[in-house]
Amino acid sequence: SKKLLLDVDCGVDDAQAIMLALAAPNVEVLGVTCVHGNTTVENVCKNTLRVLQACNKLEIPVFKGAAKPILGNSLNAGHFHGEDGLGDAPDPDAPGLDRLQEEGAVSAMIRIINQNPGQVSLVATAPLTNLALAVRLDPSLPSKLRALYIMGGNTKSRGNTTVCAEFNFAADPEAAYIVLNDYHCPLYLACWEFTCYNKLSWEFCDAWLAQDTDKARFMARIFRHSIEASKSERMQKEFVAGTGFVSCDSYAMAAAVDDSFITESNHYPVSVELTGTHTRGMMIMDTVGFLKKERKAFIMKKVDMEKFKQMMMAALK
Ligand code: BDR
Ligand code: CA
Repeated sequence: SKKLLLDVDCGVDDAQAIMLALAAPNVEVLGVTCVHGNTTVENVCKNTLRVLQACNKLEIPVFKGAAKPILGNSLNAGHFHGEDGLGDAPDPDAPGLDRLQEEGAVSAMIRIINQNPGQVSLVATAPLTNLALAVRLDPSLPSKLRALYIMGGNTKSRGNTTVCAEFNFAADPEAAYIVLNDYHCPLYLACWEFTCYNKLSWEFCDAWLAQDTDKARFMARIFRHSIEASKSERMQKEFVAGTGFVSCDSYAMAAAVDDSFITESNHYPVSVELTGTHTRGMMIMDTVGFLKKERKAFIMKKVDMEKFKQMMMAALK
């Protein structure tokens, strides 16, 4: 079976991605590391535990990671995911933070990857602070990964957080820079505009949530806030093209779960802009060779949407 390690800032689409992984056949989730992002790292830990509880998988270890980016202050995405990061629909019997592991996220990441050399696929659907800190402590880490899957960055300089930057990269540009430049392993990117071009229709979302299961009822509660937000005029502008829902993080997860999910990708060196008044956090894709970098990332271009819908449906079964 495939071994996955998930690094999340558990908002609503992270929750959807985690549930997709937990429902996938032949996948073993070794742990979930938490980081600041959509909300505080404490909320991220609480949200992750709630998602695991909803899936009857509280035995999967959850680790608390970085509370802030490498430089500056955290962002948050409460306008979209709700103030608590999970739709402001609290559970009276949510698991307490005493369920967290004592070990920190960065040391757990280093330990788990070293214990399973060549076997772990790391899936990062959040600001990349934990991954950047991990490679600084253990530079051999990337060579021991099977692959790294990231939701983040952009290819056409369309942002959702600033004019030119996508949230996960904007929330810690230095970390994104370190990861794109120092993770010498197969690297797959689900970038912002790509996810927007592959929206799920509202009809699909209705059918998805109408499944008669506890998981679907849980999702319907935490999802309501993002559905409302998605339909706002402002969000429709951010969403690049067409209407529908963008479950951004689920594309990175689907690629990690199923090797045949990506049907076409671009293959170019990538990096991140760190200065620039409007461009800090923007991803750079070098289609010509200016960067003189040999290592290239796979940037998702086309994916099997039928498979994606099946995986999403299965996530709430
Ligand atoms: C990313 O930002 C977060 O709000 C989402 O969870 C996703 O990881 C999209 O830009
Ligand atoms: Ca996320």
